[in-house]
Parts: sequence; C-alpha cells; structure tokens
Amino acid sequence: MRVCVVGTGYVGLTTGVSLAFLGHQVTCVDLDRNKVDMLTAGKCPIYEPGMEDLLAEAAANLTFTTSYAEAVPGADVVFVAVQTPSAEDGSPDLRYLRSAAESVARNLDHTFTVVVNKSTVPIGSGNWVDAILRESFADRADRPAGCEFSVASNPEFLREGNAIHDTLYPDRIVIGSDNPRSLEVLNHLYRPIINQTFTAPSFLPRPDDTGAVPLVSTDLASAELIKYAANAFLALKISFVNEIGQLAGKVGADITEVARGIGLDQRIGSRFLEPGVGWGGSCFGKDTKALIATAGEYKLEMPIVKAAREVNDRQRAAAVERLQDELRILKGRKIGLLGIAFKPNTDDLRDSPAVDIAQMLLARGARVRLHDPVAAERFRREQPELAPYLCETLDGLFDDCDAVVLVTKWAQYLELDWGKFVGLMRTPILLDGRHVLDSERMGRLGYKYLAVSG
Ligand SMILES: NC(=O)c1ccc[n+]([C@@H]2O[C@H](COP(=O)([O-])OP(=O)(O)OC[C@H]3O[C@@H](n4cnc5c(N)ncnc54)[C@H](O)[C@@H]3O)[C@@H](O)[C@H]2O)c1
Repeated sequence: MRVCVVGTGYVGLTTGVSLAFLGHQVTCVDLDRNKVDMLTAGKCPIYEPGMEDLLAEAAANLTFTTSYAEAVPGADVVFVAVQTPSAEDGSPDLRYLRSAAESVARNLDHTFTVVVNKSTVPIGSGNWVDAILRESFADRADRPAGCEFSVASNPEFLREGNAIHDTLYPDRIVIGSDNPRSLEVLNHLYRPIINQTFTAPSFLPRPDDTGAVPLVSTDLASAELIKYAANAFLALKISFVNEIGQLAGKVGADITEVARGIGLDQRIGSRFLEPGVGWGGSCFGKDTKALIATAGEYKLEMPIVKAAREVNDRQRAAAVERLQDELRILKGRKIGLLGIAFKPNTDDLRDSPAVDIAQMLLARGARVRLHDPVAAERFRREQPELAPYLCETLDGLFDDCDAVVLVTKWAQYLELDWGKFVGLMRTPILLDGRHVLDSERMGRLGYKYLAVSG
C-alpha cells in the first residue's frame, strides 16, 4: 500500500520505517529540512536503538521529503504524527496538527484516503480534524473529482528506547473509526503485524511468546480516550509505588522489597512499580494534564490523576531534600547527576527529572555537574543555560564531589566500576534515584548509600 507519514519524530519515524520494512511504499514528510536531509542520507536524527539498521533494511521502500505535494498524492493512508505539546492552560496545543491537516487537505487526490491521527490528541479531535480537512479541501479551486477521505484514530503506545520492538511486536493495535472502509484499509495495512507473518529483522528477533496481535476496533472517541487512560494508569502506578515508598522510609521498610511483594500478584503486575525520582518524558506529564483539562470541560474532577502528578513532582523535590538532610548545607556543595535523558536508551530530554533536580539544586546554591552517555549533545543544544554544568567525563563528575545522584538507570551506570570512583569524591555520598544499585555492595565499596524513599 502507499503510505504517507507526516512528522518524523519518535513516533512518525518509527511508523514510517517499520511500515516500509513490512513492504509498504512510504513517504515521510517533515518541515524540518535538517531532519529530512539526515534521514535521506540514512542517518537517524534521534537516538533510538536499531533505527539506523531498520532504515537501511527498508531503504528501497522509503523516501523523505519536505514537500506535501510529493508525499500525499496517491497515498492510501496518511498518518499524522506531529507533536501535541501542552499549551499554557494544560490543554494540548493543536496548532501543529491543524497545520498538518490543512496541508494534507491541499494535496489529497486519491479515490479513497484514510487520514489517521497518530498524535495523542484530546477526545473529539478526530471530528475536529475531519472538519479541518473538509473545509480546506472545499476551499481548493483545483480539488479533484471522485476524491474521498475519512479520519481514523490509531493511538501510539511505543516506548522510546524500544520503539521498533513495540511497533513490530505490540501488545495491541487500537483503531478508532466510524467508517467500515477505513477499518478495512487499516486492517490490511497492519495485517503482517496482526498475524505476525513478516520475517523479523535480523537484529530484533521475534520474541518466543509473540502470538497474533489483538486488534481493538472501536469508535473515534473511545480510541482517543484509550490512549490517555493508558498513560494515566501507567503514571499513577509509578506514583503509587512512590507514595508507598515515602511511608516505607518512615516505618523502616524496604520499598524495593515491598514493590516486589505486591508486583508478584498477577492482578497487580510488577511492571511500572519502580520507586525513585518518578516519571518524565514527553508523554505522561502532558497527557495527564490534558486528561484533567478535558475532564474540566465537562465539569469533572480527576482526583486520582491529579494526585499522581503531585506525587511525581514531590519525588523530584524529595531527592533534593534527601541530599540536604544528609549534607545539611547545599550551598557550595558539588553534586553530580548521573543521567539527563528522562530514561535510558533515549536522548529525549522533555520533562527530564534531572533537569528539574539540577535547577532545584542550583537555586539552593549547589555546584551541579551533569553527565549522560548519549543525550549530552542534545542537552547542550536544548538547555543552553545549563550546558556549562555538563561534564564530559565521569572522572570530572566524581572529582571532589560531595554527593552523586543516579537519576537515569543507563546500563553504563549500573555496570560502572564504582570502586574506582569512590576515592575521587570529597564525601562518598551516593543517592540512588532509581533504587537499582546494590546498597550492601555500595557500602562495602565505601559509599554512604541513600535511596529517595524507604
Ligand atoms: N514520543 C513518544 O514516546 C510517544 C509515544 C506515543 C505517542 N506519542 C505522541 O505522538 C505525537 C508525536 O510525538 P513525537 O515524540 O514523535 O514528537 P516529535 O516532536 O519527536 O516529532 C514531531 C515531528 O513533527 C514535525 N512537524 C511538526 N509540524 C509539522 C507539520 N505541519 N508538517 C510536517 N511535519 C511537522 C516536527 O518537525 C517533528 O519532526 C505526540 O502527539 C505524542 O504525544 C509520542
């Protein structure tokens, strides 16, 4: 099938490259000329494991352009995967989506095209995009006869760092549409994934337990709500374990053991019961905010979702309080932060806990140093005011440090030769912001091990 993908960020790029790998003819359009040039040269503008390999494998079916006129005409399916950041009032800023929809409408020419919202959008956006498409299409003097289109929702659930895995071997595919023809087209498009009939890429074999992928076919509003509800639930699972962790700290319980003890209950499940400085990234913060804003439009409160957000903010502050309790005075202290990306295996810095913690420490007069094995270059570009605090080497970070905080659980840090660095520190305080290091071992190596909670 012929596919156009609008936006080559984490979601659009993964969708486009994966569909091309499956054999569809894909053209990706992005307004960012720099990204398009890099991708055309086979280089990936984001850090996503396996992406450059898949780009190479799918190259014959894949084109990148800045021109909608090259991308949209003839497409059976147009995915819109542009960013939907938070506006001032917490609601999603839909101007990128509006502009993309208008550009798509100006170039539609096919007998039937499904325009699919892959961006995370507030409930009702499917209808809104449909109205924009129809208005913009009607305004065209050159609009072709016999050209039909329909809007569907296909929310994305990929995890950055595992984006290709989650696209080729997803837990489910959700399609929202009120038009049976659209559903048929998308069913056909995704059939190799639904039935797992494609040959797995060499670098990413099919997991042994992968069966047929469930397809949740529903109406537009339900598909849109599924995305927000899924993210809100994951966010509150993390905040729940962090709330219990605060109590664990008071009563002398070990939150890691508590999380394991409850997570083994299959009704609860162990994933996302990860105590520490909490979630960050481009989705949980903005999507929980958007859910609360949407509920507000219907005069509904979302107390559970609001509490999940408050607990998450509190965890970041708790890391700073823990350091202050230990060091008494933060002014003039050198504090090293290990990890800036919001989680390992990505260079995404959006809503990064490390950035927040660094700012809180700087506000209290501490001398902050930050290190990241992958996201440093991006940090320099996106956070120029914090760039002077970047440390190129771990020696530089540990040297004369009063405390080190593990913020992102990069494998490089978990496997660090911790014994080598302890001697460099002024006071060997180690705050494990992810509850992943072996406290007894760290103690034997000479660290004073602290955790954010119990
Ligand atoms: N990143 C994730 O892990 C993730 C997961 C699930 C869902 N989502 C949702 O998917 C959407 C995209 O997220 P992302 O992280 O890929 O965003 P991103 O910021 O990485 O990428 C968006 C891309 O769209 C391009 N763009 C913006 N306006 C455009 C236009 N009018 N025409 C063409 N290109 C345009 C930008 O240049 C950029 O390359 C968001 O709604 C997000 O909430 C993201």
